[in-house]
Amino acid sequence: MILIDTHCHLDDSAFDPDREEVLARARMAGVGTLILPGVEPEGIPRVLALAERYRGLYAAVGIHPHVASTFSPQILAQLRAWARHPRVVAIGEIGLDFYRDRSPRPVQREAFRAQLELAGELGLPVIIHEREAHEAIMQELERWIAARPGARGVLHAFSGDPGMARIAVAWGFFLGIGGPLTYPRAEGLWAAVRAVGLDGLVLETDAPYLPPQPYRGRRNEPAYLRDVAEALAQLLGLPVAHIAQQTTANACRLFRIPQGPEGDPVRSLLRDP
Ligand code: NI
Repeated sequence: MILIDTHCHLDDSAFDPDREEVLARARMAGVGTLILPGVEPEGIPRVLALAERYRGLYAAVGIHPHVASTFSPQILAQLRAWARHPRVVAIGEIGLDFYRDRSPRPVQREAFRAQLELAGELGLPVIIHEREAHEAIMQELERWIAARPGARGVLHAFSGDPGMARIAVAWGFFLGIGGPLTYPRAEGLWAAVRAVGLDGLVLETDAPYLPPQPYRGRRNEPAYLRDVAEALAQLLGLPVAHIAQQTTANACRLFRIPQGPEGDPVRSLLRDP
């Protein structure tokens, strides 16, 4: 079984004490490929360094809506340069967060639009962070897609309703499904997942955040993606091997990453010579 963790903050200081062991446990659990999204300008070089250092690790570069106030033409130029790095497979995480409102909403929107444009220009998918901003995010994405046919991405930690899920998938987007699927009373998420089926889903942990139910209150890590795959198998009434195969194929297609040796848990996540 080969799983892809499409959203993991392995650069987080929570992993400083035991990053190598975390990667070894991921490999043992069949999680052969990890995508590390960038969040803020200061952290992106660290993400790129990790993606260079280990096989099976890829990076995304973007400015998170929490720190949208730091966005500037200089940062945009820097992102464009970083995005040319051979391990970069997406622009993200970018988006709108009207729950925490850590940056003013108009500023979030401006940074989001500029980064969508950058992704369109470079032909890269986007990794979207969205909280309490369903309507605004769909408006922005609709505009973007109209201007950039073939634009694509993932709605990370999807929290919308089945209607939103269906529209996003019809546009060519995927829903990022992680730990919250395993929580009790996640009926809304279960309904959205059932509405789109396996073709519209990719798996993610968002580690160190959002651990699956058995590990709540503790640090999440990519090995726990197996719990998410198992919860999804149960929800959809499908064998877990089938879940793994399809979500891995979806992630490879979305991020244009090879399904060959890089996705092989035996050969990936080993340090490059
Ligand atoms: Ni994240």
